[in-house]
Amino acid sequence: MKAIAINQYGSADVLKVMELPEPELRPDGLKVKIHAASVNPIDWKLRQGQLKLLSGSNFPKILGSDLAGEVVACGDRITTFKPGDEIYAFLNPLAGGAYAEYAMIPEAIACFKPKNLNYSQAAAVPLAATTALQALRDLGNLQGAQDVLINGASGGVGSFAVQIAKAFGARVTGVCSSRNFELMEALNCDRMIDYKAENFTQLPEKYDLIFDAVGQKTFRQCKRVLKRRGLYISTLPSPQTLIQVALTSFLPGKTCKLVLAQSRGSDLAYLQSLIETEQVKPVCDRVFPLAETADAHRYSETKRAVGKIIIAVIETDLRTD
Ligand SMILES: NC(=O)c1ccc[n+]([C@@H]2O[C@H](COP(=O)([O-])OP(=O)(O)OC[C@H]3O[C@@H](n4cnc5c(N)ncnc54)[C@H](OP(=O)(O)O)[C@@H]3O)[C@@H](O)[C@H]2O)c1
Repeated sequence: MKAIAINQYGSADVLKVMELPEPELRPDGLKVKIHAASVNPIDWKLRQGQLKLLSGSNFPKILGSDLAGEVVACGDRITTFKPGDEIYAFLNPLAGGAYAEYAMIPEAIACFKPKNLNYSQAAAVPLAATTALQALRDLGNLQGAQDVLINGASGGVGSFAVQIAKAFGARVTGVCSSRNFELMEALNCDRMIDYKAENFTQLPEKYDLIFDAVGQKTFRQCKRVLKRRGLYISTLPSPQTLIQVALTSFLPGKTCKLVLAQSRGSDLAYLQSLIETEQVKPVCDRVFPLAETADAHRYSETKRAVGKIIIAVIETDLRTD
């Protein structure tokens, strides 16, 4: 099968189109013909070698976590899915495997694709939306009219976080550059702050929850604008954040947490219902054909993407509308 893989860590130039064996069907797995994948920053962090202590040195490595596609074969122990089902999922980013024509995935991480999304739109959802969901619902216990600030509101994770927080009834402030204010309005964000003009940690408003998908502000800087029992959640495991997570877990008052997204079919089913009831819609920036995955990585590395960057594995899935 055709795949985009690396034989060494390095710049986007190390991403090569390769002909590799198709994955073998396992008794507890689904073999999926992938129609679309999407890029997450962890894909290029891994490609650069930033995580090589965890990802090891077995090459070739097929990168990519998010996928949407069609089940083509099921292992003997599979009960929920059958060939022909349209699914979406995210693979362990360290193992990868989504930038390819086929993948083998455990049943527990698969879910039926939302009916109102095409494959490219569906591939935008799994990792980024799960991160936002697990941060806001599971770590943040978000409910009702709480005041929530999303830092990095226009990015892959942030654009889902704004919509999920709104679906939970929160009053949402989105921090992004002013060129993305129109998008924030379309996502029903209540208030916007342009980080280039104002520093939200120096403004008078206070929040129950700050979800930081950018990592430019620390828990200590955000403390001033957290309410008495306010919570700061980061997506970036910096040493500073890890220390604050440990320290604040023992003390009453303001708390620092770190989200590390876990791949679960049940959470994708939850997102499926938010999407099918039109409370959440993926924001898709650009679609690249599989052969141009290196350009998709270069674009993601600019950190200027608005929503998600899609890889169309099958060329007929080049559309996101
Ligand atoms: N821990 C986990 O499980 C987990 C899961 C997913 C992602 N992550 C991490 O979370 C981070 C965000 O991921 P992502 O997919 O959302 O990235 P992304 O889509 O690449 O984020 C790009 C967005 O960030 C915005 N941005 C850049 N600098 C900003 C700043 N100083 N203030 C506010 N917004 C800013 C940009 O808006 P402008 O162009 O307007 O600046 C752009 O829209 C990445 O580092 C990723 O590795 C962690």
